[in-house]
Amino acid sequence: MMLVKLGGSVITDKSRYRTFRPEAVHRLAKEMAGSGQRLLVVHGAGSYGHVIAKKYDLHMGRKRPGQEKGVAHVSWDVRELDTLVIEALVHEGLDAVSLVPGSCTMLSDGKLTSVDLDKFRRYYDMGVTPVTFGDVALDDRREFGICSGDQMMEALAREFRPERAIFVTDVDGVFSCDPHLDTECHLIDEIDQSTLSSLPRSERCDDVTGSIYAKIEYMLGIASFAKECLIINGNVPGRLAAALRGELPLCSRVRGGKV
Ligand code: IPE
Repeated sequence: MMLVKLGGSVITDKSRYRTFRPEAVHRLAKEMAGSGQRLLVVHGAGSYGHVIAKKYDLHMGRKRPGQEKGVAHVSWDVRELDTLVIEALVHEGLDAVSLVPGSCTMLSDGKLTSVDLDKFRRYYDMGVTPVTFGDVALDDRREFGICSGDQMMEALAREFRPERAIFVTDVDGVFSCDPHLDTECHLIDEIDQSTLSSLPRSERCDDVTGSIYAKIEYMLGIASFAKECLIINGNVPGRLAAALRGELPLCSRVRGGKV
């Protein structure tokens, strides 16, 4: 079984509020449907989530009156995005069903502490592809917070022990520095604990759920529940299909603990 996260930077235009990328999503859906693999799919929120979540500081939980507007707005927006993703998946031949974090998870101080995994298991066992996404969720200490797609990836990897966990992004993988600024920059094909300390700490981040460093930490954690964890470029046709066939496309990889 393969666990796939379609990152918000691939399925939306992150620079423009609520801008879906239908061609990219349909192509990726086709690559997944054509793989013949059993799948679990997570998707990010992109410009359907981060812009308003940041405006209302939803990732910090209850800080001031009026944040409920943000809770409602983001919840609505990410459901709209999810409907578009599900539509593409079903249209391309995957029997996909959405499981909504806002109603099947609980956070505690921003950490994901409970997920109704039994529902994922039941859909999976009946031959359906469960789909979930980054969402606003309840937090038992902060009232509410953001449950990211990466947190869902970790919870699902822990439960389902996938062969591969694949992060589909808009870059080829993790680079040693910013390739736009430095020509010496190279793709790091194998990531491990030491990668975190080797990267320059200069990256600016507009996301409420963190930067590439947070992503690497999730990947390291997830890899302990999988055979390996890959970060690939979903804007290049065929890379996801190759990763799902068990090949190693251009990517960064974390070798995992589980066979
Ligand atoms: C973010 O989820 C969720 C919200 C902001 C509501 P992710 O962190 O998984 O989304 P992307 O992939 O970065 O867009």
